[in-house]
This record gives sequence, structure tokens and C-alpha cells, in this order.
Amino acid sequence: MHIHPDALAVAGAFAPDQPAILNRPHAAARAARFFVEKFPGRSLYAVKANPSPELLRVLWDAGITHYDVASIAEVRMARAALPEATLCFMHPVKTPSAIIEAYRDHGVRVFSLDSIEELEKIRDATTAANGGILPEDLTLCVRLRVSSEGSELSLASKFGCDLTGAGELLQATRQVADSLGVCFHVGSQSMSPHAYVQALERVRAAIVDAAVTVDIIDVGGGFPSIYPGMEPPPLEDYFGVIDRTYESLPVSYSAELWCEPGRALCAEYNSMIVRVERRRGTELFINDGAYGALFDAAHVGWRFPVRLLRDSAANEDGETETQDFSFWGPTCDDMDHMEGPFALPADIKAGDFIEIGMLGAYGAAMKTAFNGFGATEVFEVSDEPMSSQYRGDRRDPRVSDNVVSLR
Ligand SMILES: Cc1ncc(COP(=O)(O)O)c(C=O)c1O
Repeated sequence: MHIHPDALAVAGAFAPDQPAILNRPHAAARAARFFVEKFPGRSLYAVKANPSPELLRVLWDAGITHYDVASIAEVRMARAALPEATLCFMHPVKTPSAIIEAYRDHGVRVFSLDSIEELEKIRDATTAANGGILPEDLTLCVRLRVSSEGSELSLASKFGCDLTGAGELLQATRQVADSLGVCFHVGSQSMSPHAYVQALERVRAAIVDAAVTVDIIDVGGGFPSIYPGMEPPPLEDYFGVIDRTYESLPVSYSAELWCEPGRALCAEYNSMIVRVERRRGTELFINDGAYGALFDAAHVGWRFPVRLLRDSAANEDGETETQDFSFWGPTCDDMDHMEGPFALPADIKAGDFIEIGMLGAYGAAMKTAFNGFGATEVFEVSDEPMSSQYRGDRRDPRVSDNVVSLR
């Protein structure tokens, strides 16, 4: 694929009629290398955040060997893209047929669960897939419910067993598993490293209660990226407290520490060029929206960085007058609305192109064809993402006005 310098060059050369997704493989590779080098354990990539096969190969080349997959379609796709990768089926509610196919045809040996019913399902389905003999190579991770406090998107309600039932479930799982893990998810875009400490303390209580040998502690995803109004502490802070708390847990001497970042590995991978189709006051009608890559902007009011793609948006004084805008997406649906606010030059008009940044995680992956929209063009660019926590030049968000807040 031809590599373009940036979004402005793409808009200038192609004036894309459809929303255009921009790939930045160098940014994803840099994020992956950061986790591989600095996380004090193994980093799995959570494929759901962005399942693009090109991205999977970038992450693989940068050293990510394990992948968290949540459906049989993700298993098949990840296996086709990465024949040698270790796939971990981490959805706690799976169909028997998905487990059988994953075990028998795709070499999946790692599964997660949060109930006795799911444990029995995994036991029976893998036994069937193994010619009627219970396999001796299963890694089973019991998912514990933990607080999502401090995260921007809760994952505390749907999955995870409560502490009261965890001891019994861990003991039952130990009977089936060759390797036993405990996993959790603190919620996506977790703004506080302390969330992982609290969750690991719950893990400690569950292990003590169960009195079983645990081989894997999987701290899940939730590692944040940088968005307007959301400036998290450096990832090193997260890794530091996770490492210290993990080291004090009662686990087997050969135990492993895992994490499953989705967002943090791919947020910087994509941005998108959209076109303004109509302006109505401070409302801009653009050609992507709630049913496209802007799902989070519409449904959870997430703000993404934006810039107008114009050679010079400055006035005679060399300044750009900006104004706050909201967006309407292309479908005929009132819910196709992104409140923002998105600050853009005040003279923006129909026909202008806008780059919307940081759409690599749960952005490009969310596109649907609803209402006949959803077609995209894809370009590769070599410039920097609109924000990055991996460039090494980040201002420490805890330092302001010469005051350093103590952790
Ligand atoms: C089991 C599991 N692991 C990892 C992730 C990735 O989370 P994040 O993108 O917040 O890092 C998710 C997201 O839903 C998940 O469900």
C-alpha cells in the first residue's frame, strides 16, 4: 500500500467521497513494543478492540504472541491471520459448538468462565473434541467480578463471579484445568492505576478462600489512551503497582502474570477523514456517525480530537478562530448524533474535510452498513497520531503549576 504523509495529503489528493480510514502501523507497533518491553508479564491483544488482520500482523511482528478472542468468528479470523499465535477464548459464555471447533480445529487451549455451568460446558465440549477423553492441556481462567469505579466504560455488571462463589468455582475448575488462572476486567479506559490494586486484592481473597494453587493472574484490559478531557497517568504507573501487588499474591512459584489490553494497543492506529455535507449553525452533518466509527462519540458522549484539513485555517492575524460544533451522522436517525463539543474553525463549511483522531479502538471496528452507509476507503499514513502515550515526550499529567500530586 502506498504510504501518504498525512490526512491533509490524502484529502488533497483524493477528496474521498466516503469516510476514509487512515492506518498508522508504526503507532500500533510502538504501542506493542512498549507493552512487550515494559509490562511485567505477558501481554495478550484483545482482538475485539480492532480485528483488522493487517493490525494483527503488525502486533505479531512487534512481539505480541497471545490474542484474546471472544467469538468463533474471531477465533477463525485470528487463526487465519496468525497461524502460530496462541489464541485465548476469553468470553465467559460460549456455545458448545464454538468450544469444540476452537479446541479441535484451531488449537485453542485457554478458556475463561465465571460459572459452574460454563465449566461443565467447557469440560464436556473439549472432551467431545478430544475423542471422548478429558483433555489434560486446558488452561482455565475464572473471571472474578471487580469494581469498574475509575473507568470510563463499566464492565462490572455482565460477567464475573462474586467473591462469595469464587472459592467453590476455583476448586471445581482446579479439578479440570491443567493450568488455573484468575482474570478480571476493571472496565475500559481505567483512569486510575489503583483500580488494579483493588481488583488484585479481591483476587487475593478468592485464592485464600479457595486454598488452591493458581498458575496465572490475568489483570485484563482497561489500560487507557489519551482523549480530549481524559489524560490518564503514565502507563508505567499502572505497570508498577500491578507488579508490586502481584508479587505479594499467594500463587505458585512458577505463576505467570498476564494482561489483555485492547484499547491501549490500537487506539492510535486509526484516524478517519470525514466530509462536511451540510452546516446548520453549529451543527455539522458529516458522512460517518453513530452506526459507523463514531459509536462511542454518539452513545457514551466520548470526545475525540478533530482538525480541519485545510492548508491554512488562520485569519489575517495568523490566528484560527474556533467554535464548538456538534455532529450529525449520515443516517436518517435522530440517535445518529454526536454532541461533542468539537472545536473547529468558525468558518468551516460544506465540502470541508475533517480528521477525527484516536479511532483505532472500538471505532473502525464498530462500523455497520445501516441505512446503506458504512463504505470506507483505507489509506496508510506516516505522521503521528493526534495524541500518543508512547512517544516519550508526554507531559506528566500529575504535574501542574509546579505542584506534583502525591500518589
Ligand atoms: C475479556 C476482555 N479482555 C480485554 C478487553 C479489552 O479491554 P480494553 O480495550 O479496555 O483494554 C475486553 C473488552 O471488552 C474484554 O472483554
